Amino acid sequence: MNTEAIVLLSSREVDKMRAAGQLAAQLLDHLAPMIKPGVSTLDLNDEAERWTQAHGAKSAPLGYHGFPKSICTSVNEVVCHGIPNAKQILRDGDIINVDVTPTVDGYHGDTSRTFFVGEPSAIARRLVEVTEQCLELAIAEVKPGARIGDIGAAIQDYAEAQGFSVVRDFVGHGVSRIFHTAPQVPHYGRRGRGKKLRPGMVFTIEPMINEGTWEVDVLEDGWTAVTKDRKLSAQFEHTLAVTEEGVEILTQHPELVVA
Ligand code: MF3
Ligand code: CO
Ligand code: CO
Repeated sequence: MNTEAIVLLSSREVDKMRAAGQLAAQLLDHLAPMIKPGVSTLDLNDEAERWTQAHGAKSAPLGYHGFPKSICTSVNEVVCHGIPNAKQILRDGDIINVDVTPTVDGYHGDTSRTFFVGEPSAIARRLVEVTEQCLELAIAEVKPGARIGDIGAAIQDYAEAQGFSVVRDFVGHGVSRIFHTAPQVPHYGRRGRGKKLRPGMVFTIEPMINEGTWEVDVLEDGWTAVTKDRKLSAQFEHTLAVTEEGVEILTQHPELVVA
């Protein structure tokens, strides 16, 4: 049984999470224009590491339980935790999830998006659009008094109605000074079940949605998770804080201030 307690963050701690989250969002924006046919996943990794250091931050994945690189790059049938590699060159029609987690002052900003490389196939476009919508529907559930199960139900109902499946083996997670902590946030489930959300809870929602089966294999490297049927998988992730009013997306750009 998981007896780890869910920690409620103070507003000062949420401020620190926001700083890390905004940097993470900016890092994805910085990498986005590089994502073109001919670039290697190691090129993306190396630029992410350089940019992160240049902004006085650290890459949490590097060395985390032995993970060898600074970001995760998950192409096509890779569900998550793809390892950047010089020999892996992006090609027209690929989809790639880039998952970054810089730390600022020890606090983690964890976010990912799936990008198109060149022109996507019709099915790839639909899968990626549905996955992004799953994250948005899930975020709309987050408010004090709602339950963890409401999040998964929103995702599962929509993804399955669109003919896709929801990965079970990886879940969203509490995040703060610790990369992965309580609560676990499944992307499937039933309304009204699970822990009640309270202001100060900070966690990720990061649905992985598959074209075919939800089942995954982990490759020999011990990290790369792929779909069992080798069909496509997409993912989007945000780090969120439960507030008195509802929810704040921490891994987002600061709003442009109009003077
Ligand atoms: N960023 C991933 C997540 O969303 C975790 C990556 S852990 C690593 O939880 F070791 F694979 F980098
Ligand atoms: Co992540
Ligand atoms: Co995460």
